[in-house]
Amino acid sequence: MKVVRVSRHGGPEVLQVEDAEVPRPGPGQALVRVEAVGLNFIEIYQRTGLYKAPLPFTAGSEAAGSVEAVGPGVTTLRPGDRVVSSNILGAYAEYALAQAERLVPLPDNVTTRQAAAVMLQGTTAQYLTTSTFPLRAGQTCLVHAAAGGVGLLLCQMAARIGARVIGTVSTEEKAALARAAGAQDVILYTTSDFESEVKRLTDGAGVHVVYDSVGRTTFTKSLNCLLPRGMMVLFGQSSGPVEPFELQTLAQKGSLFLTRPTIGHYTATRAELLDRAGQVLGSVASGALAVRIGREFPLAQAEEAQQELEGRRTTGKVLLIP
Ligand SMILES: NC(=O)c1ccc[n+]([C@@H]2O[C@H](COP(=O)([O-])OP(=O)(O)OC[C@H]3O[C@@H](n4cnc5c(N)ncnc54)[C@H](OP(=O)(O)O)[C@@H]3O)[C@@H](O)[C@H]2O)c1
Repeated sequence: MKVVRVSRHGGPEVLQVEDAEVPRPGPGQALVRVEAVGLNFIEIYQRTGLYKAPLPFTAGSEAAGSVEAVGPGVTTLRPGDRVVSSNILGAYAEYALAQAERLVPLPDNVTTRQAAAVMLQGTTAQYLTTSTFPLRAGQTCLVHAAAGGVGLLLCQMAARIGARVIGTVSTEEKAALARAAGAQDVILYTTSDFESEVKRLTDGAGVHVVYDSVGRTTFTKSLNCLLPRGMMVLFGQSSGPVEPFELQTLAQKGSLFLTRPTIGHYTATRAELLDRAGQVLGSVASGALAVRIGREFPLAQAEEAQQELEGRRTTGKVLLIP
């Protein structure tokens, strides 16, 4: 089978397509025949070495497909079952292993492409809007990179709750997508100052919560966009890591709350994983949640796919198809 491996840290060129043996599932594991791989920013951090992963490794953690075989002790899955997971052990591959307890069954009317496109980013948007900061109708949120993978899903979920969504994006094309996903106001943060725009749009008041996946270039101004006792949710760093931060700033800017959540802690148990993913996949199945697949690349073009994501040229989700 073909896999995409990383043997040294570096640019997209370190992603190498290699031949490998199809692995056998060990105790508690299942072998998945991968039909669609979800591309995520974390794979760029692992490739560059910003996040530590022991070398060499097969890239990727999110995929959907069908169970090919199960290992000893697995009673909840059978060959042929359609599944999705964001905890696949090396998802950029034609076949991949996963712990059976991290695999989520797919509703009949959700395709494996849709599932691979929504599992990680949809579950993220779900926990951010319901648990990290449980948004209520009438509140206002600021969503950075609102036409991105997580961004479009966040806009939809927040709008459905009845919150007002202010989005930021870099281009007019992305602005149109964010508006269609439920953002009432969209700011082009590359050409205008988003802090003063947010103040203008909220009559000087500010927003209840900022969902910030951009990090370095947006963090400080985002704090200035919050109402007193507002919540800064820093959940990513697409523009780079945030500089060391003086905690007293939170007091000065209005007794603010700051959190840096990550999906693992919000889907730690199987019950929580199934609950959150079930809600997301159920919304896709019912048509309540739209999944935008912006681009698809053949698996062998993982290098180009990561270049597009890193280069800010993607909208919604990017998939690799083995
Ligand atoms: N904590 C969690 O649980 C969790 C879960 C999922 C994802 N994340 C994080 O959330 C972030 C977004 O993930 P995603 O997969 O949905 O990606 P994405 O938002 O689809 O792509 C990144 C977007 O960030 C914006 N951006 C701003 N400055 C950038 C820069 N200097 N370089 C590249 N992009 C820049 C771009 O949108 P514009 O062109 O509109 O600016 C770009 O399209 C990533 O940092 C990811 O690691 C965290």
